[in-house]
Amino acid sequence: MTQDELKALVGRAALAHVVPGELVGVGTGSTVNHFIDALATMRDRIRGAVSSSEASSARLHAHGIQVVPAEQVERLAVYIDGADEIDGRGCMIKGGGAALTREKIVADLADRFVCIADASKRVEVLGAYPLPVEVIPMAAPQVARRFAAIGGRALLRQGVLTDNGHPLLDVHGLRIDDPPALEAEINQWPGVVTVGIFARHRASACLLGTEQGVVRLDF
Ligand code: 5RP
Repeated sequence: MTQDELKALVGRAALAHVVPGELVGVGTGSTVNHFIDALATMRDRIRGAVSSSEASSARLHAHGIQVVPAEQVERLAVYIDGADEIDGRGCMIKGGGAALTREKIVADLADRFVCIADASKRVEVLGAYPLPVEVIPMAAPQVARRFAAIGGRALLRQGVLTDNGHPLLDVHGLRIDDPPALEAEINQWPGVVTVGIFARHRASACLLGTEQGVVRLDF
């Protein structure tokens, strides 16, 4: 199977985690796009979706699925999203699609985070994928120097601003042995809007697309 077929497989499998009659939290990316397409088949059985990006909102709208602003929501049963990397504890690197801030906000509303990913995303240690960090522009050079001090090489993502209008750094060369500790540390750096380590908001479960089918991992 191609990587995209594996993404489609888990996108469809995620439907089993959607709670009928409720709102569902929806992430961003090519795997989630498959999930949104599958979700259209049960749009009459959900109240709508809370979206993590303008791109996902547009796709949800195109399928006739109501998008409810996060501001109006107190709690979601489940948030479904992809990842750039996921480790054996359910900690993730996210933000390859530049939606990390809204993804963390919507994930924070949810009781459960179900990650959907093709098998290539499962890693032993996070960090081979460059870590996305959304920053306030005037802080970018200092944040980059702080990463250099811990062995990271931060590059500005060219030609990209987030839905919130901020630039992104992609940090190469990190080996993230303790995701909760590094997430907490980077969150203290002035000018960091969101770091793409999802440890506090790690996955509750992961549906992994493999050649043998969907493998469910619980954390
Ligand atoms: C977007 C994300 C995505 O979940 C992550 O980049 C995975 O994307 P894809 O499903 O396209 O492989 O964090 O900000």
